Amino acid sequence: ATDQTQPNDGTSLPDYPGTRSPRCPFDPPPVQAGWRRADGLPRVRLSNGRIAWAVPRYDDVKQVLGDPRLSADGHRFPQLMETQQHGQPQAFPRMDDPEHSRIRRTLTGEFTVKRVEAMRPHVRSLVDRFLEETIAAGPPVDLVRTYALPIPSLVISLLLGVPYDDHAFFQTRSATLMRKGTSQEERKAASGELFGYLLDLVKRKEREPGDDLISRLIAERVVAGELTHRDVAMSSMVILHAGHETTANMIALGTLALLENPRQADRIRDTDDPKVVAAAVEELLRYLSIAQDMLVRVATEDIVIGGHPVREGEMLVFGVPSANRDNSVFDMADVLDLDRDARGHVAFGYGVHQCLGQSLARVELQEALPALLRRLPDLRLAVPLEELSFRHDMVVYGVHELPVAW
Ligand code: HEM
Repeated sequence: ATDQTQPNDGTSLPDYPGTRSPRCPFDPPPVQAGWRRADGLPRVRLSNGRIAWAVPRYDDVKQVLGDPRLSADGHRFPQLMETQQHGQPQAFPRMDDPEHSRIRRTLTGEFTVKRVEAMRPHVRSLVDRFLEETIAAGPPVDLVRTYALPIPSLVISLLLGVPYDDHAFFQTRSATLMRKGTSQEERKAASGELFGYLLDLVKRKEREPGDDLISRLIAERVVAGELTHRDVAMSSMVILHAGHETTANMIALGTLALLENPRQADRIRDTDDPKVVAAAVEELLRYLSIAQDMLVRVATEDIVIGGHPVREGEMLVFGVPSANRDNSVFDMADVLDLDRDARGHVAFGYGVHQCLGQSLARVELQEALPALLRRLPDLRLAVPLEELSFRHDMVVYGVHELPVAW
């Protein structure tokens, strides 16, 4: 069969995800609202040059992400993975069931609401620690560097049992993998180095176990023959990679959105009701939808999406930011309204690959955002909004730096 995802004869297709308006850095690229209103699905060019159908409407996103005729399998469809790493096991987000669920099942127990709630006091004390370090370092400071990135990075390191002293090593590799312009060679090198590092760590933990996820996987799964050392290293790599950049960008971009909407910020600052904070975090997740360019699949059969035929072998990209601004689901969807019921948003994806770490991300955001606003009530941007550098070049949206003062 011909590869339907290779660029064709030079016809000019719109780039996905499109260009955001400098005046509304929180809004998805304006072109996506047009795609949502138009019939059918737009044919787009992805940042890696592949051709795909974009799925911009909420109902279609949910229906299709739940459809088993779609594949995330990077072995069957190498176009889903930018690097085929020889000698590394497949990462489970790039597998289909039942293989995918065989691996994912070994991790779900670590991320239940109950397990994550038990970590909340610990997360709170880390938040306080980095808040004090931020205050000691400024003003002004780059809040990404002093607060937004260290909190999730340390949380995920402690959970996995990865020494946080190595954070510069894994943060730079992770950032390389998240950058759209990274070459195949750089990508291979970064992922090979991370994998090698984690495989060494897994072997060390086998000799010297600790109270951490990697040690538990060895004791409960490797010993039983369910997982190999290499499987454990790969699962750890996925979690380490997925677990800190995403949440870090939500903390930084969420803070910025609140600074730009002071009355909404008051809503979080002035409440002692955890339910109000939880609802506010859901709305920020919906409104900001940072997963701008990462949800891709291939149709394994001919299917119809919103009345539009998609052929076997064609690629799809799911417009999470667009779906979460669908007015047919969220009233006045372009407005940030922390009092609305935003549950049902698809900021964590949908279906079998829905975010494994979402409960943990929620707890981190519910702790980090209110603490910052309360401790520094006159927090403000230290440069004009127009001077900020937004992460158009990354798979996960956000700000590269957030200079603030108080
Ligand atoms: C999957 C978003 C935090 C681990 C996903 C997906 C999205 C997402 C949209 C679906 C990808 C797809 O279907 O192709 C986010 C956002 C976060 C966040 C917005 C922060 C606010 C975390 C954290 C972890 C994590 C803290 C740590 C464990 C994962 C994993 C997957 C995933 C392992 C793959 C699941 C699978 O394929 O079965 N995330 N995530 N994420 N996320 Fe998150």
